[in-house]
Amino acid sequence: MKNYSVAVLSGDGIGPEVMEVTLPILETVGKKFGFSFTFSHAPVGGIAIDTKGKALPDETVEICRGSQAILFGSVGGPKWESLPPNEQPERAALLPIRKIFGLYANLRPAICYAQLIHASPIKNEFIPQGFDVLVVRELTGGIYFGKPKETVQTETGERAVDTMVYTTEEITRITHIAFKAAQKRRKLLHLIDKANVLETSILWRKTVKAIAAQYPDVTLQFMYVDNAAMQVAKSPTQFDVMLCENMFGDIISDEIAAVTGSLGMLPSSSLAEGSFGLYEPSGGTAPDIAGKGIANPIAQILSAALMLRYSFQEETAALAIEGAVKKTIEQGYRTGDIYTEGMKKVGTKEIGQIILQNL
Ligand code: IPM
Ligand code: MN
Repeated sequence: MKNYSVAVLSGDGIGPEVMEVTLPILETVGKKFGFSFTFSHAPVGGIAIDTKGKALPDETVEICRGSQAILFGSVGGPKWESLPPNEQPERAALLPIRKIFGLYANLRPAICYAQLIHASPIKNEFIPQGFDVLVVRELTGGIYFGKPKETVQTETGERAVDTMVYTTEEITRITHIAFKAAQKRRKLLHLIDKANVLETSILWRKTVKAIAAQYPDVTLQFMYVDNAAMQVAKSPTQFDVMLCENMFGDIISDEIAAVTGSLGMLPSSSLAEGSFGLYEPSGGTAPDIAGKGIANPIAQILSAALMLRYSFQEETAALAIEGAVKKTIEQGYRTGDIYTEGMKKVGTKEIGQIILQNL
């Protein structure tokens, strides 16, 4: 029997409780389709700071290296907010993990399900069928990692520098991912940039335009990021795949996630060359509801489905999980975040059980 090794990094806040209902779902789907898992748990984020003195301990990195994929919960919380920014769980865990494992392709699907449009802050008449947009974000380049990156003392104060830098190579590999994704979807790709101002954006446009010839079935459009921010808030239905450099993708993916109205439903994947990837919910640690057993575990469960699809090529099993989630929503089960009058309100464990039964 095939066995897949997974590093399980539950992290902080609601991370552990949503992970707890996700692992049995993976095991069940494995039994059904003939594979098994070895889960290796390791601390990350605030809990790792508290127990090991560091948000991303070396042992955790080693456990990830020895695994075929990382299933990630979420990190951070008020307890660690007073630390210097580069020691805080989010930054000190996520940025190095992305760099160490070369996770350059961040896929963030933002789906607003027709049954859940009431949760969206957009007037429902503008999104009668909901919407389905995929943000493809470059994750290991740009202003996040460019050098120089420093703060230096000057005669009058301080001077801080961040550097946005991209190479043709970095743009090319993520662009192919975006075009291939568009081919499997509605065949529309928007490059989100700031080519009226930034050199890097001009290189993005030139590179993406040249690659477009290899994907004649996909329509390519360009949009400035400021306009894109406005369009996402007004009419997200116009988008299919949005390709973004690192920081624009950070901002646009949060915005589009927010307009779905159900952040607790959104998974994401960060992929390296080959089949290694990190899979995590798009939402955060939700410290306000952590430990209460009411968090929505669907984002974590759907992240596990993405892991089956992209790291293990178990498409049928991934579809089975996604189908079970869809059925659960159709049956009217809702956690608090997506609850409306007349639906069946359930907690984290209960909705996990129902999804398991639907499998
Ligand atoms: C994200 C987060 C991170 C990012 C932070 C915590 C470093 O906002 O995953 O989107 O900016 O990439
Ligand atoms: Mn972000």
